Amino acid sequence: MSDFSQRIIAWQRAHGRHDLPWQNTRDPYAIWVSEIMLQQTQVSAVIPYYQRFMARFPDVARLAAASEDEVLQHWSGLGYYSRARNLHAAAVKIMTAHLGQFPQTPEQLAELPGIGRSTAAAIAAFAYGHRAAILDGNVKRVFARYFGVEGWPGQPAVEKQMWRLAEQLLPPGDVEPYTQGLMDLGATLCKRSRPTCHRCPLETDCVANREGRATELPTPKPRKALPERTITLLLLQNGNELLLEKRPAKGIWGGLWSLPEIENGTDPQQAACQRFALQTEIRPAMPILTHTFTHFRLHITPQPLQVTQRATPTPGTLWLDSADAVEAAVPTPVRILIRQLLGQ
Ligand code: ADE
Repeated sequence: MSDFSQRIIAWQRAHGRHDLPWQNTRDPYAIWVSEIMLQQTQVSAVIPYYQRFMARFPDVARLAAASEDEVLQHWSGLGYYSRARNLHAAAVKIMTAHLGQFPQTPEQLAELPGIGRSTAAAIAAFAYGHRAAILDGNVKRVFARYFGVEGWPGQPAVEKQMWRLAEQLLPPGDVEPYTQGLMDLGATLCKRSRPTCHRCPLETDCVANREGRATELPTPKPRKALPERTITLLLLQNGNELLLEKRPAKGIWGGLWSLPEIENGTDPQQAACQRFALQTEIRPAMPILTHTFTHFRLHITPQPLQVTQRATPTPGTLWLDSADAVEAAVPTPVRILIRQLLGQ
């Protein structure tokens, strides 16, 4: 076994994480849910969501039987909602195409929606002790520094090189502590900024450490200016209630309940009348809220309107008590706006 793997395993056993809520189990369902939540999300943010999610959907059958809406509700605030939609779709597929039996090989796992090569390998390693290489963002950072790999790891050529390294370094056994060790090292010592190299088991022969380049590697993604988008959201208030509208499946916040969006520059009162048959009065303006997504920056102009004459809700809309709307499956910026409106 390579020195690299040996050191990772020994370090994980002594200093890695052993008591996370999804550890000390071989339940592939529990491991799968955790790995999906942990994609691009830190452990501390995931833990409360994971616990609520597992309490409500304790097994794949219960998840498949739930509505997508309810699954999204348990995801709301965690972001990257396609993860929740894929999780639900995959649960349905496991119940039908796999007759409720969780797939066991990385290849079969990777055929499920939302499970890429690295996540498939992690699930197979933790649930079945299967020997397969992972390569997530944390691992890419460890490799880039240890081996002095140049180039942005999202670039196909660099990624291919790293997959080769990942496979070569895989130890013959102890794949669980090795896999967990790589993740733990990346998350707790080999952090993006201010890595704690003096505590790292790889310190002595890490290229980046030797050359004093730990903060330069991995090479950052070539920066393009983020595109900007501006939208207007209506806060239609009727007494304590607010009008929510379900977002189309495609596009931002797909399938989530949100505040109605109107095209920029259209008259909000006219839009409320045409779209929802509501008579309204303008209420005091609220500050613009900016939310940054991975691919663009969104400037939201909130427009509060007081409803003076209410009509039957149109399909895809509902009136919800404002306090309940804060708790509903709404995107985080929408929750912030509703809280501001309520003066919270
Ligand atoms: N990140 C991705 N998977 C993880 C896991 N199983 N434990 C901790 N952090 C992780």
